[in-house]
Amino acid sequence: MSLTGLFLCSFLVIHLIGNFQLLYNDGGVAFNEYAKFMTSFAPIKIVSYGLYGSILLHALVGIGIFLQNRKAKGSKYAVRTNKNNSKAAGRMALWGSIMFVFIIWHMSMFWAAMKFRLKPDAETGVKDLYAEVVGAFSHEWVVLLYVLSMVVIALHLNHGFQSAFQTLGLNHKKYTPLIKVVGTAFSILVCLGFAIIPIVMYIQSMN
Ligand code: HEM
Repeated sequence: MSLTGLFLCSFLVIHLIGNFQLLYNDGGVAFNEYAKFMTSFAPIKIVSYGLYGSILLHALVGIGIFLQNRKAKGSKYAVRTNKNNSKAAGRMALWGSIMFVFIIWHMSMFWAAMKFRLKPDAETGVKDLYAEVVGAFSHEWVVLLYVLSMVVIALHLNHGFQSAFQTLGLNHKKYTPLIKVVGTAFSILVCLGFAIIPIVMYIQSMN
């Protein structure tokens, strides 16, 4: 759970940096080139399969932990010290499930467009994924759902970041509070960064 979680966090940072190219004032040239590279360069394609596998594994193990906790709560052997843990696990399962639905919706919009729907330009072979994103973020309901999803993702990351290090054995008087602060800063910055993109693109689409 912790290893796939940290791998997914590193994906988010790279994904965010790549997506910032959507805000360049170049009609999508840099972003479309980047999308072409990310979907055609073999080593990155292999990492992508690892990414899909990690998302599924992370979700399945998460469901397993949630169900185990629920069973423990219902049994007469449940101990009080587990109460907070199981509450946190319940919330993580809820935020995580919403996040999973977001990822499916998000990939059906953009990933599926890139893979199946868009035709490459006859000369350059580049697909106009930028136009697809511009189109999606010209609808206020899409922007609103994206921003709300980022709040949920921030909540999930905030707890997940800290608990990943705890699971890996780092539970220390001095370092644990520091990891909590870094985790909170990470989740706020990453999700703010993601939320800014649809908002800015929506404002641009009004002009
Ligand atoms: C403003 C926010 C975001 C934008 C504009 C955005 C944009 C995109 C685009 C255009 C693609 C297709 C690219 C391609 O096929 O190469 C994509 C893929 C993807 N996105 Fe996002 N994304 C955003 C936020 C997120 C978030 C928050 C997550 C995860 C929680 C996420 C997860 C993914 C995944 C898993 C893929 C598939 C990656 C792959 O095939 O390697 N995205 N995104």
